[in-house]
Amino acid sequence: MAEPDSDAAPWWRGAVIYQIYPRSFLDSNGDGIGDLAGITSKLDYVASLGVDAIWLSPFFASPMKDFGYDVSDYRAVDPIFGTLEEFDRLVTRAHELDLRVIIDQVYAHTSDAHAWFQESRSDRLNDKSDWYVWADPTPDGTPPNNWLAVFYGPCWTWDGRRGQYYLHNFLPSQPNLNVHNPAVQKALFDTARFWLRRGVDGFRLDAINFAMHDRSLADNPPVMVTNAVFNRPFDFQHHLHNQSQPELVPFIEKLAKVMREFGPDRFTVAEVGGEQALAEMKLYTEGQVRLNTSYSFDFLYVAQLSPKLVLNALSKWPGGKDEGWPSWAFSNHDAPRVVTRWGGPQAGASCAKMLLTLLMCLRGNVFLYQGEELGLAQADIPFERLRDPEAIANWPATLGRDGARTPMPWENKLPYAGFSDAEPWLPIPSGHIAAAVSEQDGEADSVLAIARELIALRRSSPLLRAGSFQPLDLPPPLLGFDRGGETGVLRCLFNLTDKIQDCALLASGKLLFAIGPVDLDKKSLGGLTACILEMPQE
Ligand code: BGC
Repeated sequence: MAEPDSDAAPWWRGAVIYQIYPRSFLDSNGDGIGDLAGITSKLDYVASLGVDAIWLSPFFASPMKDFGYDVSDYRAVDPIFGTLEEFDRLVTRAHELDLRVIIDQVYAHTSDAHAWFQESRSDRLNDKSDWYVWADPTPDGTPPNNWLAVFYGPCWTWDGRRGQYYLHNFLPSQPNLNVHNPAVQKALFDTARFWLRRGVDGFRLDAINFAMHDRSLADNPPVMVTNAVFNRPFDFQHHLHNQSQPELVPFIEKLAKVMREFGPDRFTVAEVGGEQALAEMKLYTEGQVRLNTSYSFDFLYVAQLSPKLVLNALSKWPGGKDEGWPSWAFSNHDAPRVVTRWGGPQAGASCAKMLLTLLMCLRGNVFLYQGEELGLAQADIPFERLRDPEAIANWPATLGRDGARTPMPWENKLPYAGFSDAEPWLPIPSGHIAAAVSEQDGEADSVLAIARELIALRRSSPLLRAGSFQPLDLPPPLLGFDRGGETGVLRCLFNLTDKIQDCALLASGKLLFAIGPVDLDKKSLGGLTACILEMPQE
């Protein structure tokens, strides 16, 4: 790795982080499931994108009920993905290529197959009896309160051995850890040290605001919105008590201290969703002794892109004293792919390029999900091929998670798009095969080429990485903002529709980058265009 320049901003401020979903990146051993050796063999490709870091979704030992977010051993690599030695090789190769490695840490829950839970559930007197959240039933045998789980059903499952209910905010096979317990905290910090010693550069903290519950077990209040149509029972409640407790802050500060044991450069990003996400994101990242950044859901599930959406989200992070730092993503392994969600089923390369330009112009860190650089659409998976419990439970009301998790298309001419020699765990849509890396690499105007160009531009521009954000007052569907700093101002303009629009702000400035027809003389932006202008110094 290149040595950090001590006078410069930390490496992660404004970084582009490429998310890899290991199951679906590249299968090196012919079982239809991606693995660590497969990822290592494609790191040159990842480095060719120009990104600063990779984030690996879980590859730890797991029964895979939630595809790795149900961890049964925090320190082991699941045999499906490979071995610890293969992980070490991946880290070494990534560092040779100047890519930092961020891994997931799932501290809110384990798998029910984890040895800690096996011991905890065995009786009420064992050493780990208080490592999970156990509660007696009410007098009529029903669960201790009304809390509901994210995916479906109640938050509580009965365990006959203990004669008690245990808490789970996601699947019944993902019991919540009792992170209030100092012994649990110590075990998690030791897990963190285990991976930091192996050279990982940071952690994405999965669902971190679910790590602590209100120990009084008070009921959550109902949302009570007239005529509301909710897809999931979870959405009927305000989640005041099952999650987001104030004791999380000291826990986070202790974790940040563990990170500092390994130097100033190790990185933390908190995944924070929910009704109070903004307040929590700020709380977990403010000042110098908490987390580096938090990952926002502002763009992930929203059905429609609008100027207001972007300006509102970004304006909430004006950069005040002690303010933390935001992270943005348009797509990930949980949310429907953005090109389809915002562009509709027919959206094509122009839409993908415009969205990539927008993402790369945002103030904060940006997370790019594998395949987003190819402009991949959400895959339509038939019900009988669905694998994800959430997708199955909520089908067809939501565009499920499996449609965002299909394997990467590498080679247009090879079986299974070069992802595997065997039938992959999820089907690869024909549209993805046509957009394979082999088809786009070296093509000057491909989505991939534009993605590389944009990432290079952002990497070389302190204004795009970390400059201030100033909204511009433009009539929708035009979106505009300035990114400013000591070295000048970059004006970022977007036409979010496919119809040509007049844009008076095109009057001044030098065109630094453009997608689609931008006419400076006629002051017009073609459909789905984006441009970055370098503004004259005052
Ligand atoms: C992950 C999901 C996972 C959930 C429970 C998240 O937010 O991104 O994939 O199902 O946490 O661990």
